[in-house]
Amino acid sequence: MKRLVLALDVYEKETALKVAGETARYLWAIKVNWPLILGSGLGVIGELKRETGLPIIADLKLADIPNTNRLIASRVFRAGADYIITHGFVGRDSVRAVMELGEVIMVTEMSHPGAREFLQPSTDGLIEMANELEPFGIVAPATRPERVSYIRRKLDKSIKILTPGVGAQGGSVHKVLRAGADYIIVGRSIYTSESPRESARRIYEEIGGSG
Ligand code: XMP
Repeated sequence: MKRLVLALDVYEKETALKVAGETARYLWAIKVNWPLILGSGLGVIGELKRETGLPIIADLKLADIPNTNRLIASRVFRAGADYIITHGFVGRDSVRAVMELGEVIMVTEMSHPGAREFLQPSTDGLIEMANELEPFGIVAPATRPERVSYIRRKLDKSIKILTPGVGAQGGSVHKVLRAGADYIIVGRSIYTSESPRESARRIYEEIGGSG
C-alpha cells in the first residue's frame, strides 16, 4: 500500500509537473499548497491530476466562516482537488461547510514549534470534533510522535492520520509510523534533492519496511 504524500511547495508549474512525474510511482497522493496555487494558478491541480493519475490534496488550511469556506472549497473541488485540508479550530459549522462539498482532512495539531502555543492545548476538543464529524483524515505532527500516539489512541479507527514534518523538520518515518500514522507527507526532502525520484524511492522503501 502506498503511504507517501508529496508536498509540492514550489511556485512554477514546470517544476511541479517534472517532480510529480519523476516521483508519482512512489506516491499515494500529491499535496498542493498556496505557493503552487499562487505561482501557477488553480488549474495546476487538474494538470497534476491528469499527468499523474494521483489524488490531489489541496492544503489551503481553510479557516473562515462557513459561507467563505464554502465559496473557496467549491472552486477548489471543481478544479479537481480530491481532499481539502481545513482548520478545525474555527468550529464545526466551518468544517461542515467544506464536508458538504467533498472530502476533508482536518488540522488537529501542527508540526512547527509555535503549534504548542495555541493549537496543542485545543487538541482534545479537535479530536472530539473529528470523531463526531468523521472527516477522511486529520493532520498530526511527525515532529512529535508522542502526540501522534496520543491522537491515535483517542481518534476513531476509521479516520486516517496524515503526518507532515519528516525530513526537513526533523521527524522520523519509523517513529511516526510506529506511533500510528497512516500517511507520511514529505516536501523539501524530495523536491529540493538532487534526485527527487531517488529521494522519494528511499522514503517509499523506508515506509514499506516499517508498515
Ligand atoms: P516539508 O518541506 O517540511 O513540508 O516536508 C511539509 C508540508 O506540510 C505542510 N505542513 C503542515 N500541514 N499541519 C499541516 O496541516 C502541519 O503541522 C504541517 N506541517 C507542515 C507544510 O505546509 C508543507 O506543505
